[in-house]
This record gives sequence, C-alpha cells and structure tokens, in this order.
Amino acid sequence: MDSLGLFILLMLGCFQWTAAPAAEEITWTYTGLVGQSEWSEYFPDCGGTSQSPIDVVTTQTKYDPSLIPVIPLGYSQHGNKPFTLYNNGHTAVIELPEWMGLEGLPWLFTAVQMHLHWGSGGPSHGGSEHTINGLSADAELHVVHYNSELYPNMSAAMTQRDGLAVLGILIVTGEETNPAFNNIINYLSRIKHADQKVSIPAFDVQTLLPKDLGRYYRYNGSLTTPPCYQSVIWTLFHERVQISKAQLLKLETILYSSKVSDPDKMLLQDNYRTTQPLNHRVVFTSFSAESGKELSSGEVTAIVIGVMCGCVGLAVIVRFIVKTIRFFTLLHHETVVDEGAGESKREKTRRGPELDL
Ligand SMILES: *[C@@H]1O[C@H](CO)[C@@H](O)[C@H](O)[C@H]1NC(C)=O
Ligand SMILES: *[C@@H]1O[C@H](CO)[C@@H](O)[C@H](O)[C@H]1NC(C)=O
Repeated sequence: MDSLGLFILLMLGCFQWTAAPAAEEITWTYTGLVGQSEWSEYFPDCGGTSQSPIDVVTTQTKYDPSLIPVIPLGYSQHGNKPFTLYNNGHTAVIELPEWMGLEGLPWLFTAVQMHLHWGSGGPSHGGSEHTINGLSADAELHVVHYNSELYPNMSAAMTQRDGLAVLGILIVTGEETNPAFNNIINYLSRIKHADQKVSIPAFDVQTLLPKDLGRYYRYNGSLTTPPCYQSVIWTLFHERVQISKAQLLKLETILYSSKVSDPDKMLLQDNYRTTQPLNHRVVFTSFSAESGKELSSGEVTAIVIGVMCGCVGLAVIVRFIVKTIRFFTLLHHETVVDEGAGESKREKTRRGPELDL
C-alpha cells in the first residue's frame, strides 16, 4: 500500500473516531454538558425561529373571534384497558388510547400521550414552560395529539408544520388536593428510575383540564424538548388548574433522571425549557381582553365618574337646547301677540324667558 492509501485510511479512521454520534444517541439534559443552550448543536431545529415555550405578553396578543372552544373527544371514555405510565428520564409520560382526540381546530387530531414539566423549589419557584407576562406557574401539563387527517401516524406528523396539536395547562398550587392528578401522582413511586414503566388504572383525562376550554392562547411553535420540531399548534388555556402543595412536592422530589443501574442518582427536577424568542409570530386569543378581564376598583371608579360627568354634561346641553327653543317660541309668540295686543302683555312675556335663562 502506497503512502497516499495509508494516509486516506488514517484519515478515515480519524473521522470515525471524531464523528458526532447520531442525534438519537445523544443524551440531552436541561443543565450540564448537553443542556438547553447546547441543544441546537445536536438538534438544529432547537435553534429555529418558531420555538416553544414562549412568554405570552397579554397586551401584545391579538383577539381572533374565529377561535372556537377546543373539544376533547373521548377523554372521558377511558375504557377498562389500563394506561401505561413511564419515566423516560426527562418526564413522566402517559400513553393515550387512539380513540381520544381533539376537535375545534382546522383538522381532526388524535391523542398520543401526555406528560408534565415541573421545578424544584416548591410553590412560586417556577416549573411551567410557558409564562404569562413573565410569570411562571408551578408546573405544566401537555396533552400531545397528531394531525390524523393529514398524516398516518405520530412519527410522520411530528416533523410537519401543522402536524401536532398540544394542549398546555398551567398548574398552580393551593390548599385543596386535586383528586384527578392523584391518578398520576399516586403511581410515580413505581417509576422512580428512568426507563421504568407501570400499568395504571385508566381514568377520565378530561378531569385534568380546566373547566373553561373556550378561553385560550393560540400560536405556532415547537416541541419543547429535542429534536424541537417546529410542528406544534399550541393551545395554552387561560384558566389554570390547581393542585395541593403536597402534590407538587411529590411531583418534584420522587423521580430520578438516572437509570436504576446508574451509580449516581440524579433527581428529575426543573425539566422545563426557558422561554424562546417570539420573533415575528403573533399570539392569538380566543377571548377579548375587555370581556375577560376583571375590573379593578380604580377602573370601576373611573368608569362611574366618567359616566356621571357624561350624564351631567348631556343634561346641561339638553337643558340649554330646551331653553333656546322655548325662548324663540316665546319670541315668536310675542311677535304674534304684539300685532293685536297692548303694551302690558308684551312686557310680561318678554320678561319670562329672560328670567328663566
Ligand atoms: C408512519 O407512516 C409512515 C408513512 O406512511 C411509514 O413509513 C412509517 O413506517 C409509519 N411509522 C410507524 C411507526 O407506524
Ligand atoms: C400558523 O401557520 C400557518 C401557516 O404556516 C398559518 O396559516 C396559521 O395562521 C398560523 N397560526 C397561528 C396561530 O399563527
């Protein structure tokens, strides 16, 4: 073998050693070596211009009256077949049966799975992916669907624009336990480690959603985890759902991102992506700010004073017009009377309107 051949062989060998592993083999995380800021090096779409999550700035949203309430299909018809709950190292996922779906969007969507994102610091320390006017919720539920009118399955749809529809539900903490969420939280201890899977009793998925499915934010975005495909029609509900502090604490502290065989245990926490630039996108609302907004006492006072001033002003104008009309009527009457009557009557009628004005 000549020296050129040897050189080529060596180069090939080098290339093999240094070539980046395929994207599927990359173990991404939220912080660390392949943390959020490095995702786009391995998954180019993560560096795109229509990424999720976003911060919804409510004063910059646009009301779209054509946005009708979303209609969950079969969410309450869970049947007897158990659901599968598993720890994929990034979150807890529940696979959904294919008869569950979503209507109220331009196409029919079929449910695939749902999963959660959360923080680590308890209530009011972040955990949601989407934020509203810069404020985080404590956790967020995502129900993922694919466009089954245009695509044969999830893997075909997930790379296409308009391929997926995800419902985003912001979760906050309060005093009361939310029994619907215990259908998931009660079984987390059985999938502590990554790759663990368990069958759980089927339950009514609609009970996890807010009551008001008519008021939401709608925008075009992406998967919030690698490979960050920009294929998601997002529906982020205006109404938040509430779980107890104890439920949140359990969610935040029970799971590991490490496998059972890993010597170093890593808690699965803060599995939320930071908000991404909106760029040239518009966030639409299904509700107008005025009708949805609760008025503050200051605004109520302003409106009352405004209405009162308006009424007083109107009364003054009406009174002025009435007086003017009356004055000219009397003047006219006086002229008519003047032609046939004496001095005394004229004096009397003239004084009348002068006094009155
Ligand atoms: C999804 O659909 C595509 C296109 O028809 C097909 O090639 C692929 O095998 C399907 N994938 C799965 C997981 O069914
Ligand atoms: C999303 O993008 C599609 C086409 O690319 C557009 O027709 C649609 O109006 C967009 N939707 C929103 C909510 O911006």
